[in-house]
Amino acid sequence: MSYEPAWLALREGADAAARASDLLDPLRDALPPGEPLVIWDLGCGTGSLGRWLSGRLRGPQHWILHDHDPRLLDRARDNVYVTADGLPATIETRKGDIASLRASDLVGASLVTASALLDVLTAAEVEAIAAAAACPALLTLSVVGRVRLSPPNPLDAEIAAAFDAHQRRGGLLGPDAVTAATAAFGRRGAQVRTRPSPWRLGPAQAALTAEWLRGWVAAATEHRPGLGRAAEGYLRRRLAECAAGGLTVEIHHVDLLALPGGSV
Ligand SMILES: C[S@@+](CC[C@H](N)C(=O)[O-])C[C@H]1O[C@@H](n2cnc3c(N)ncnc32)[C@H](O)[C@@H]1O
Repeated sequence: MSYEPAWLALREGADAAARASDLLDPLRDALPPGEPLVIWDLGCGTGSLGRWLSGRLRGPQHWILHDHDPRLLDRARDNVYVTADGLPATIETRKGDIASLRASDLVGASLVTASALLDVLTAAEVEAIAAAAACPALLTLSVVGRVRLSPPNPLDAEIAAAFDAHQRRGGLLGPDAVTAATAAFGRRGAQVRTRPSPWRLGPAQAALTAEWLRGWVAAATEHRPGLGRAAEGYLRRRLAECAAGGLTVEIHHVDLLALPGGSV
């Protein structure tokens, strides 16, 4: 599956607002003091996570932006990250697939990060990250299969269930990603903390909400074609409510911080 830069740009503000900032202090405490940080962003897209995180960490930083999509890496390459002390970070991009990530790739890494990635991976790919990372890992914004729309609609639960089933297609983890990652890092002796990082979308985020609704209903219908006409009507009503400023949506995510045994 490929991701459109326009979609990643549309969600960036809501992602930034949702991120669990209370994981930053334990993360900073676990990073090597006085050394330049080498930070990997797995499934970096256009580099949204670095635009948020680089300015929240002190000291020299080198970012390795990793993705399997060369179109997104072309955009990621142009980022200008500035650290909390006002230093420009250095950036390189690497094309690669998580499935072939090895511990030897991550030698020298101070921090492994990812955003909106785990739920589109398989259990084996999440295992590959946990096996390769000997450093702290901050893995953010994984969906957990809980959405709440207000006002409610009788079709909400059916669409949500079909969407979750679509996310699990072909062995992808979807809403099971955080449980799988917690277990994968835990088995390797890491201390894992999780915090909620929900999108709370109201009238001010109408464009994002509308695009999310289109994608949510389309995925549900792809998984359950029988929803067809009912889903079309549902989407029309929801988009009208959204355009009129009468819809709020909570989409629940979880951020996960894994600290290797010995760093806590
Ligand atoms: C939902 S997007 C999130 C992008 C970015 N982290 C952000 O928050 O804007 C998921 C990203 O993971 C990348 N991706 C998905 N599966 C991957 C894999 N197996 N190996 C490498 N990159 C992958 C996609 O190309 C995409 O850039």
